[in-house]
Amino acid sequence: MEVIETPDKMIAWARNHAVLGRKNVLVPTMGYFHEGHLSLMRMAREYGDDVVVSLFVNPIQFGTNEDLSRYPSDFDRDAELAEKEGVSVLFSPSTDKMYPAGFQTAVTVEHLSRHLCGAHRPGHFTGVTTVVVKLFHIIRPDFAVFGQKDFQQLAIIRRMVLDLNMGVEILAHPIVREQDGLAMSSRNIYLDKDQRASALSLSKSIELACELFQKGIRDTTRLGEKVSAFISSHAGTDIDYVGFVDSNTLEFVSEADNSTRLLLAVTLFNKVRLIDNGLLAGFS
Ligand code: PAF
Repeated sequence: MEVIETPDKMIAWARNHAVLGRKNVLVPTMGYFHEGHLSLMRMAREYGDDVVVSLFVNPIQFGTNEDLSRYPSDFDRDAELAEKEGVSVLFSPSTDKMYPAGFQTAVTVEHLSRHLCGAHRPGHFTGVTTVVVKLFHIIRPDFAVFGQKDFQQLAIIRRMVLDLNMGVEILAHPIVREQDGLAMSSRNIYLDKDQRASALSLSKSIELACELFQKGIRDTTRLGEKVSAFISSHAGTDIDYVGFVDSNTLEFVSEADNSTRLLLAVTLFNKVRLIDNGLLAGFS
C-alpha cells in the first residue's frame, strides 16, 4: 500500500492509473477506522482495480463548538488496517495542502442541506461537499463508497454528482452495527459503559417506530412523540431532531408509508452527537 500525502502526487498517481485503464474506487474517511470503514473498503474492492482511501479530518465541516480538536486519530493503526484490506493507496494530506492560504471556494447543495443535520450544524454540509469535490478532482474515482448512517450526506452527495455531471458512481453501504445495535461511529469511543446504554436509545427507538408502523400507526407526529419520549427516558439524552422523511426526496412526511425513513440526531451527556436512521418498513 502506498501512502500519498500531497494532492499533486495523488493527481499524478490517478492519471497514471487511468492511462493503464485501471478503475479506482474511493472510500472517503476521517480515519480512526472501525468495522464500518473496513466494510466500505471491502465493498470498494468489488468494484474496481484499486481502492483509494482518503484519510482527512476536514476542518471546514466542523462548527466552532464541535469536536475537531479532539477528533480521535491513530494513523499507524489505520494504515495497518487499510493495508490488510488490500487498499492500494492511503491518501492522507495535511490541512494546509488541502486548504492552502487564500482558499475561498465552496460547493453547496442548497435545498437538501437546509434541514435535519443542516439546521443543527450550519455550514457542515458545505464543508462536506467542498471537500468531497476536491477529493473527486484529485483522485478521479470511477466509484465512491459512502455509509448509509450519514443518510442526508449520502443524498446530498448524490444530488451534487448529478447536478455537476461529476461522472462518479456513488455506492451506498448499509449501516454497520455493534452486536447490541449501536451504529458504528468513530465517536462511540467517547462513551463509557453507562453512557453507551443511553446511546442505544437511538437504534431501539427506530425499532420502536418500526413496530408502531407495523401495527398501523402512520401519523408521523404521533410516531415522533413516542420516539422522542422513549429517547428522553434515557439519562443524558438531548434530542437534536427526530425526522420522518421520504427516503428518496428527504422531504418531511406527515403520513408514513413504505419509503418513510426515520432520521435521528441526539447529543449524549453534552459531549457526543450521534446520528442513526432506518426505514420504517424494514429496519436492519
Ligand atoms: O462521512 C465522513 O466521514 C466525512 O463527512 C467525509 C465524507 C469523509 C468528508 O470529510
